[in-house]
Amino acid sequence: MWAMDGVMGKASVYLETFGCQMNVADAERAATGLRAAGYELIQQVEEADVVLLNTCSVRARAEAKVYSRVGEVKHGQRKNSQLIGVMGCVAQLEGEAVFDHAPAVGLVVGTRATDRLPLLIERARAGEKQVSDLGEREEGEEWNVSPVERHSPYIAFVPIIEGCNKFCSYCIVPFSRGRERSRPAAEIIAEVEKLKNLGYREIHLIGQNVNSYRPRLESGLENFKGATPFSRLLRAVAATGMERIKFTTSFPRDFHSDIVQAIDENVNLCNWVHLPVQSGSDRVLRAMRRGHKASDYLARVAAIKNSRRRLALTSDIIVGFPGETTGEIGETVQLIEQCEYDSLYIFKYSPRARTPAALLLDDISEEEKAARFAMVEEAQRRVQKSIYNNYIGTSVNVLVERESTRSASDLMGHSTCHKIVNFRGGKDLIGKTVDVRVTEIKVNSLYGELV
Ligand code: SAH
Ligand code: SF4
Ligand code: F3S
Repeated sequence: MWAMDGVMGKASVYLETFGCQMNVADAERAATGLRAAGYELIQQVEEADVVLLNTCSVRARAEAKVYSRVGEVKHGQRKNSQLIGVMGCVAQLEGEAVFDHAPAVGLVVGTRATDRLPLLIERARAGEKQVSDLGEREEGEEWNVSPVERHSPYIAFVPIIEGCNKFCSYCIVPFSRGRERSRPAAEIIAEVEKLKNLGYREIHLIGQNVNSYRPRLESGLENFKGATPFSRLLRAVAATGMERIKFTTSFPRDFHSDIVQAIDENVNLCNWVHLPVQSGSDRVLRAMRRGHKASDYLARVAAIKNSRRRLALTSDIIVGFPGETTGEIGETVQLIEQCEYDSLYIFKYSPRARTPAALLLDDISEEEKAARFAMVEEAQRRVQKSIYNNYIGTSVNVLVERESTRSASDLMGHSTCHKIVNFRGGKDLIGKTVDVRVTEIKVNSLYGELV
């Protein structure tokens, strides 16, 4: 009974996160609020008074996972009084329908209601059945994350923009995350300064489309004539002196050359751009409502490739969009070869209810999607191998994150160009930045020795 262990004091919460970095950042924020309200955060799901599943809905499989996970949690629970809550994108989209799908769930918390979690849990634990909140954030709510809740002691995620206004025809995110809202620049810069003083060595500015950043108040942004707010934010964040700054995801249509200029002029803006293209065919891009043609995209890529330092370029591809022909997937392969991506995330098209593309016939069979996936993967493997080969003999700067999972005498980290790098070294190097000379390449990582 909640009255016995005291709702305000000792209830324990287990929080599990699926999906993208935005969900990770949300979980950090939720945990901060819960601990401040007196909840204990624990790692053992069976022991917890409250289990929160922070969910993703970007493809059908991600969504199905939520319901199977609820079943597992219910099956494993030791306490009958255990409260199961669903938060994140599935919660926002399904709302109270979650209760019908999964009667074991007692709490549904939308993507902008995380700060109200303590109150919502309290209501549910006081006996209220099926508590839900799909509301917006309160006016003036700050992004407040305590260092102990961060996913790493060296790398921090700093959200700069939430939501998405782009409405690509296949994508659920504008529905699950709502309209774009940019955080005030002064608040972002203050957070980065605080992180630097706490000893963080790398930050990732995150958002569905970071380069659509457009704060209502521009205080804190330096005035560079004609430059986009995002490139001005980059310069302002670089001026804090944070050692390594990465940002993701960038939207092609809003990727102006002033971003490349800002990177050129600030060594702490890292050598990596993630610029998802989705398809190499103009017809498919139009059907996807991406707002750019292949040639527009290639012009962006040319600016990136012309930067003073070599910037790594990565992308996302969807295969098997409705009506995609073999010729069109061929155009995608061609574009991949032209762009020479350092790495690629490939997805099989998955229809999402409520999106415009869901009205089109999902006419590419699962086998054919798998075959196209393999074709794109094979093209990327060829491209990637030759790019990785060029790294042999060169030095890359690595932030050491942890021991390698493969070998206890090896360490693992990411380069400024965001590649996984393994090398031999002692644990005392964890949390430091070191130079590593590349001696060997693997499929998705580099291997080297400490310089
Ligand atoms: N805001 C980013 C990423 C959004 S989601 C962008 O605009 O690129 C991450 C990736 O998931 C997308 O880039 C896309 O490749 C993939 N994705 C989104 N919806 C999908 C769907 N319905 N089926 C398959 N892949 C999808
Ligand atoms: Fe989805 Fe497109 Fe928005 Fe990216 S830009 S989150 S793919 S709608
Ligand atoms: Fe998934 Fe929501 Fe992120 S749908 S990819 S968790 S924005």
